[in-house]
Parts: sequence; C-alpha cells; structure tokens
Amino acid sequence: MEVIICQDADEAGRRAARRIAAILSRTSDPVLGVATGSTPIPTYRALAALVAEGAVDVSRMSAFALDEYVGMPVDDERSYADTIRRTVTEPLGLDPSAVHVPDGMAEDLVAGCQAYEEAIREAGGIDVQILGIGGNGHIGFNEPTSSFASRTRLKTLAPRTRQDNKRFFAEGERVPTHCVTQGLGTIMDAGHVLLLANGQEKADAVAAAVEGPVSSMCPASILQHHQHAVVVLDEAAASRLR
Ligand code: F6R
Repeated sequence: MEVIICQDADEAGRRAARRIAAILSRTSDPVLGVATGSTPIPTYRALAALVAEGAVDVSRMSAFALDEYVGMPVDDERSYADTIRRTVTEPLGLDPSAVHVPDGMAEDLVAGCQAYEEAIREAGGIDVQILGIGGNGHIGFNEPTSSFASRTRLKTLAPRTRQDNKRFFAEGERVPTHCVTQGLGTIMDAGHVLLLANGQEKADAVAAAVEGPVSSMCPASILQHHQHAVVVLDEAAASRLR
C-alpha cells in the first residue's frame, strides 16, 4: 500500500485527482468507481478542474457508484443516485446514461445486484475505485464481519453508520436501515483502489486498515492485499499511523 499524507483535505483532493487522471488516461474507455459521503468532495472538485483544463477526457468515461440506500427514491436528494448526479455526473460533464448506481428500489433486489455486477463486467471492470472509510472501517457499506469474497448485495447498516449518516437527515427522520453495496470482492477486482480519509475521527479506522491485521472486523484492511492500493490522507487522519 502506498500512503500519501497531505497537509489538508484540499491538497489530498488534488493529489488524488491527479492520480486518478493518470490512471484513466491509460485506457480508451475509462471506468471510474465513485463513492458518496463528504470525503471525496474535494477530489471530485479537483477532477472537475482537470476536466475543464482538458487534462482528462470524459467523452468515453463511465462510472459505477459503490452503494445506495434501500427504499430511497432516486430523486430524493439523500439518495446516492442524486448525490452522484450533483457531485460527479454534472461537475465532470459525464453522460448520465453512463453513470450507474445500484438500484435500491428494485422489486427484486437480488436480481438487481446481479445485474449490477454484470454491468460492471460488461464495461470491462472498474479501472480505479475511489473509496472513503467509515469510522468502523467499512468501505462501501461492507460493515465489520463482511466476507472478503462478497459481491454486490443487500446489507444491514451498522448502528454506528446510521448514527454517522444522521447528519444528512432532518431531526426525527429515520435513517435507512438497509442498503445495496458492492461487495469487498467486487471492490478488490478494481484495477486500482484509492482510499481517502480526512479528519481525526477517521484516524483509528485508518490505522487499523493500513497497519492492523487483515481482518473482516476492519473491512478496509483487505486493501492491504490489493496490488495497486493508494491511501491519501490529511495529517489528522494519518495521526495514528506508526
Ligand atoms: C459512500 C460509502 C461509505 C463512505 C464512508 C465515509 O458511498 O461507500 O463507505 O465512503 O461512510 O463517509 P464520509 O466520507 O461521509 O465520512
């Protein structure tokens, strides 16, 4: 694992965006794996600037999101489909029909998850997967004890994740209990993985992921086995590394 420690989240975003651009420029039909949440926002901003400068060609690019809440309509601003539209599709100028998000409203969620796996395969696999990390070590919504072999599937959100995501919901509103998420096996199939983390509240999870034993109790620790894993941190998130 390569670990890059930056002064702050904006510098981390710029460094990450340059890495992503370099990887995507090596292929004619680039496939980007995208995460939601607060962490990748500076990276998306920096990527959009690179696109505007002409340093990244998005004309043949497609994208796949990591996860989606179950039962959240796609036009709800808290849905990951709408979040990806606002933070990735529009700022980068991607063709909306080339941007995929797992279907949390599918009548048959199992079939929807299988179709998502198939769509990733058909696109030629993900070239670079952007990841955030949960305070409990999750990547995507692969909560602690997730199987390292898991594929896109239905998962129950851990109480800590629901607590952390409360900030996106109004007072008294119920945070969803379930999601569909790419599995750890799906994430590990990406050609490159780029894990981002900012802030002191991520420091323990980052230390467990990067330096702890590879254990399903810290799902992100499986990235230690990835051949092309880069971890981009601000100083606070790196503060518990030895
Ligand atoms: C989001 C996702 C999650 C987040 C993680 C960190 O699509 O898959 O794993 O990356 O919960 O969230 P933030 O960045 O909001 O701290």
